[in-house]
Amino acid sequence: MISETGFLLENGVELPFLGFGTYQIKEKGEEIITRALEAGYRHLDTARAYGNEQEIGRAIRQSALPRRELFLTSKVWKDDLGYDSTLRSFEASIKDLDVNYLDLFLIHWPLPHPKADWKRPDAETWKALERLYDEGAVRAIGVSNFLPHHLLNLFAHADTKPMVNQLEYHPGYIQQTTVAFCQSHGLQVEAWSPLGRRRILQEPLLLELGEKYGKSTAQICLRFALQNNVLPLPKASSSARMKENMDIFDFELSMEEMYRLMTMPETGWSGYHPDSFA
Ligand SMILES: NC(=O)c1ccc[n+]([C@@H]2O[C@H](COP(=O)([O-])OP(=O)(O)OC[C@H]3O[C@@H](n4cnc5c(N)ncnc54)[C@H](OP(=O)(O)O)[C@@H]3O)[C@@H](O)[C@H]2O)c1
Repeated sequence: MISETGFLLENGVELPFLGFGTYQIKEKGEEIITRALEAGYRHLDTARAYGNEQEIGRAIRQSALPRRELFLTSKVWKDDLGYDSTLRSFEASIKDLDVNYLDLFLIHWPLPHPKADWKRPDAETWKALERLYDEGAVRAIGVSNFLPHHLLNLFAHADTKPMVNQLEYHPGYIQQTTVAFCQSHGLQVEAWSPLGRRRILQEPLLLELGEKYGKSTAQICLRFALQNNVLPLPKASSSARMKENMDIFDFELSMEEMYRLMTMPETGWSGYHPDSFA
């Protein structure tokens, strides 16, 4: 479901349409997040594994923005899967971010590290997320990089269903099976690497559409995600690119163009597959 400003989860929590990705923002992290907040981003995506929660926490504190105006996501890393270790990871995240709740908390990848059977660790981790949700420490819970079979395992054990799945998603790699599965089960899909980490920005079809609409190829990628009800999380370091990535609400790709983008040859995949990345 969609409101004027974001995607609505079934529990009524709203995810602002565009999130700001923070992977590889550690050096100068505080400065970059400060600029992102100044540019107008209110939805920040981080993870325990990014090592930047303290920098983000400092930028938030300095901004003096009311906590309720921000949407903060973090994730538990694959060597912390399990009930107690997930609760510890969550405590460390909110301490470093200097907040007393998260808006969204995700299991980062389905396989534990070192690689081992994933079904039980995932189910135990999910129980910890459910507890945090029941206690009001997080407003929504979900997963990242979960394929349908990983989700079916959670469904078999869950009292509260996952609400979000964050996946690699960009023109050239749209994970159609997993996205369709999620959308039919009421999970909001988020796009990581919505710009294919720049690998796809010179694709001829993106250049053609960029020229037609007077937009950059990055803006075409972000608009493409939104029109497929997928919430993009672009990362940018410069204020100019941060603002450019927000300027995607004044044009609309046609159905024909969406289908051309959805069926373009596969390209720009990161190479990380959830069943082998541990
Ligand atoms: N859940 C997961 O497993 C997972 C995995 C990967 C990422 N993520 C999340 O998704 C976020 C985004 O993914 P990502 O960082 O991998 O890649 P991305 O957002 O697709 O691409 C970021 C790259 O694109 C450049 N860029 C940004 N805006 C641009 C523009 N308008 N024109 C040209 N280049 C532009 C950035 O450059 P500058 O930085 O130099 O501006 C950076 O090099 C991450 O930061 C993280 O929060 C999650």
